[in-house]
Amino acid sequence: MTYTDKENKFKRYTVTTALPYANGPIHIGHMAGVYIPADIYCRYLRMMGENVLFIGGSDEHGVPVTIRAKKEGCTPQDVVDRYHSIIKKSFEDFGTSFDIYSRTTSATHQKTASDFFLKLYNDGKFIEQSSQQYYDEQEKTFLADRYITGTCPICGNERAYGDQCESCGSSLNATDLINPKSALSGNAPVLKETKHWFLPLNDYEDFLKQWILENHKEWKTNVYGQCKSWLDNGLQPRAVTRDLDWGIKVPLLGAEGKVLYVWFDAPIGYISNTIEHDKDSWEKWWKEKDTKLVHFIGKDNIVFHCIVFPSMLKAAGDYILPENVPANEFLNLEGDKISTSRNWAVWLNEYLKDFPNKQDVLKYVLCANAPETKDNDFTWKDFQTRNNSELVAILGNFINRTIVLTHKYFEGKVPEVNELNDLDKQTIEEIKLYPEKIGTLIETYKFRDALFELMNLARLGNKYLTENEPWKTIKTDKERTATVLNISLQICANLSVLMEPFIQFSAKKLQNMLNLNPLKWYESGNISILKAGHEIKPAELLFERIEDEQIQKQLDKLEASKKENALNNATVEPQKENISFDDFGKMDIRVGTILSAEKVAKTKKLLKLTIDTGIDKRTIVSGIAEYYNPEDIIGKQVSVLVNLAPKNLKGIESQGMILMAENPDGELAFVSPVKPIKNGGTIK
Ligand code: 2FM
Ligand code: ZN
Repeated sequence: MTYTDKENKFKRYTVTTALPYANGPIHIGHMAGVYIPADIYCRYLRMMGENVLFIGGSDEHGVPVTIRAKKEGCTPQDVVDRYHSIIKKSFEDFGTSFDIYSRTTSATHQKTASDFFLKLYNDGKFIEQSSQQYYDEQEKTFLADRYITGTCPICGNERAYGDQCESCGSSLNATDLINPKSALSGNAPVLKETKHWFLPLNDYEDFLKQWILENHKEWKTNVYGQCKSWLDNGLQPRAVTRDLDWGIKVPLLGAEGKVLYVWFDAPIGYISNTIEHDKDSWEKWWKEKDTKLVHFIGKDNIVFHCIVFPSMLKAAGDYILPENVPANEFLNLEGDKISTSRNWAVWLNEYLKDFPNKQDVLKYVLCANAPETKDNDFTWKDFQTRNNSELVAILGNFINRTIVLTHKYFEGKVPEVNELNDLDKQTIEEIKLYPEKIGTLIETYKFRDALFELMNLARLGNKYLTENEPWKTIKTDKERTATVLNISLQICANLSVLMEPFIQFSAKKLQNMLNLNPLKWYESGNISILKAGHEIKPAELLFERIEDEQIQKQLDKLEASKKENALNNATVEPQKENISFDDFGKMDIRVGTILSAEKVAKTKKLLKLTIDTGIDKRTIVSGIAEYYNPEDIIGKQVSVLVNLAPKNLKGIESQGMILMAENPDGELAFVSPVKPIKNGGTIK
């Protein structure tokens, strides 16, 4: 029984997490949005003695996978094999406590999804409809919306996709695009008739309105609000099949070349993975009324989990519906939208290379700053501050002081509690409140607040130690010191229990230091966890400071991504008007060598150079200071326009110009001969 389910309505929990597309590794946005809250929820429920099935898996169909395969020149199966194992490994490394992590290319899933479709088909739940879809005549294939690009009719972005414009965020139909082009051949696609199966969502409108808008007013406002807006606008039939060669084949005669739409098969993956995990009694997790089904997802998945999938389950007949869908908003990174294609992300596998064994720091920061009610920003500075000022200074410091003092004054044995004063009694009363306070917040999906309360228990510990000053009382009153350290150790023990759902690696380390076996949640909230005389182990640091250099390294990495993107996206300047050979011949360009270089005072960009042009030695002022250090360029050969009329720059007469090549982002580089040339040699 949980704190919020006093009637004990639910005997088991089926907890699902959005199946990530296997077309890239996992990043902090995925973790903060879905997997960290879900893992906290499941770990907590297990500690409450509840029966939990925690489901994850890779979403391996869909167009993003085929696009990646095409880009990399391999098969879609190669792509998903690679990323499925990278993703699975990241979840293992971060200790995400899935009962099963499988994949939608598994044989079980192919069969489950196919059977699910057939059941709805045989029960007459679909409508068949023909429509005009874009077709690439050269490649002889229908085009998925993502395979069509063109100009967004709303903002004019020339690189909008057939399903969405990433510039203004509008969702589009491929036929809305101006000047549509096939991403396969580059040709303009033609419209061609094709038949598909549709789930008539409009038939489920009344049921959905009652179930969500009336019976689930307690859902998070962002989720409820999105559902209400969909339902208020009226639902349309949705195609559940696509013309594509990657996916689960439509199991009907005459449906060659058609597959199940990825958003039809992916949520069925939750059921397939349950079957794979618990073949004989999987149904109890999906069909028994006393099972609580909860979907953890990001906000872009709300419509599929609150409207489409429930309608599918309803159509199938004997399934339960989700009790809650606690969707999070998005996490940004240093002020910009996280993006796989722009490499603007913190990838879990890379994070662990740079911060080995620091899973808990990232988990802590992502939970403390989770986008629960609005989009939030992850910054490396905040990561450092939360580590140094919260994990190290509050939690780690309290635990370390308590354990070190116990070893120093009581040979590492838990001392006896003696007479309690008012402060002790008040502290004990406060300790009692934490399990329920934190538990209730977790049960109501308020993970940030729950974590904040956990830290408040550590704050309470620090305050208690500081106010009682056992390092002073030891000189005069060993009994009092014993009481204070006993209560402080009990707070550590309580922390080791309550930390587990959030930062389980550190909880384990702490339990090891306290020489304590894992406890249930409800066994905490008191000061009798550690018996007097119980021996504890030496103190080990739970958290360590993160220095500025480590943070700078991460910021530099992001800066490099930004630069690379700017270069990839930059357009080349158009060619200028033609000139005659005589026009060109008027320019006298020579090879010269830099003899000296110095910064021009009070400027950021200018260097004053002395150049041996072969004709003379002269002064040239050049705007290259952001790209070259004066000391690094002495002796370099460069190209000099020697007959440019002299010009006064910052009080210095510049006699010519150094030619520079320029990257689209403004970066400059000398244009130098690839082998030494005598100074004064002409360039023509
Ligand atoms: O948005 C996504 O990343 C999807 N792959 C989520 C699928 S959730 C579920 F239906 F499997
Ligand atoms: Zn747009």
